[in-house]
Amino acid sequence: MSSRKVGTQRAFDAAAADFAALGRHLWEPIGAATVAAAGLGEGSRVLDACCGTGASALPAARAVGAGGSVDAIDLSGPMIGELRRLSADLPQLHAHEADATAWETEGYDAVLSALGIFFFPDMTAGTERLISRVRPGGRAVFTIWRDGAMVTAGRHAGRAMAEVTDSAPPPEREPSLIDRINQAGTYAEWLSGRGLSEVDVTVNELRLPMTPEVAWLVIIGSGFRGIVDGLEPDVVERVRERYLESLSADGVTELDATTLVGSGTVR
Ligand SMILES: C[S@@+](CC[C@H](N)C(=O)[O-])C[C@H]1O[C@@H](n2cnc3c(N)ncnc32)[C@H](O)[C@@H]1O
Repeated sequence: MSSRKVGTQRAFDAAAADFAALGRHLWEPIGAATVAAAGLGEGSRVLDACCGTGASALPAARAVGAGGSVDAIDLSGPMIGELRRLSADLPQLHAHEADATAWETEGYDAVLSALGIFFFPDMTAGTERLISRVRPGGRAVFTIWRDGAMVTAGRHAGRAMAEVTDSAPPPEREPSLIDRINQAGTYAEWLSGRGLSEVDVTVNELRLPMTPEVAWLVIIGSGFRGIVDGLEPDVVERVRERYLESLSADGVTELDATTLVGSGTVR
């Protein structure tokens, strides 16, 4: 497992508690929109891939009820530990520390993945693998960030870290497939190419008010945590202060956190 845990993945392990704290503001509304698009009925069998601390897995488990089941999978042990704690009263939710792209069980009524598929080393193959876990006529729902979402926070935090530690800012991510399909039209086309029918992409507008508390949680409770991981606590505190000053100097009071909720029927 550890060989799969590079970069962002280690950041997710470290972020688990702060990730849950950010949930109320960010992950939960996005998870709820993802579950709504699946139209889950009571008794359904659901696979939730890249489940984190359960933003979509928990409402999915409530929607399917005691007669249904949700297999919730994440690579991160700390995320799964937090989810097990949060789902103690939902025996139909089964949390597994595992790689979603290698999950064997199939025949699900629906597969969900909120903000997960773009982490797969091969996003297309990983998504197709998830779709193959669903029975014919079942539903697949994959939520991704819309173009431009979240970037302002990462850019300001990266610059703050560079200034405080007198180092180069983190390099821009290399362009990849996700950068070509992060608009509603291109995303729908890509999902259709994965063999789904009746594809629908809903734009789920979300703007986070960047209070100092939320602005910092966005960094330490997400994959951006890698920017400050490994720094001494007093250095992290200086980065936090510089980051908040930098947002304020640029007049950033809101963060675009808009997602594209893409759904389709499995043939
Ligand atoms: C941005 S978080 C989203 C979590 C959750 N779905 C939510 O919306 O709150 C992405 C998650 O994907 C997980 N992840 C990335 N690659 C994975 C893989 N191959 N298999 C399982 N989980 C993976 C990470 O550990 C992280 O918890």
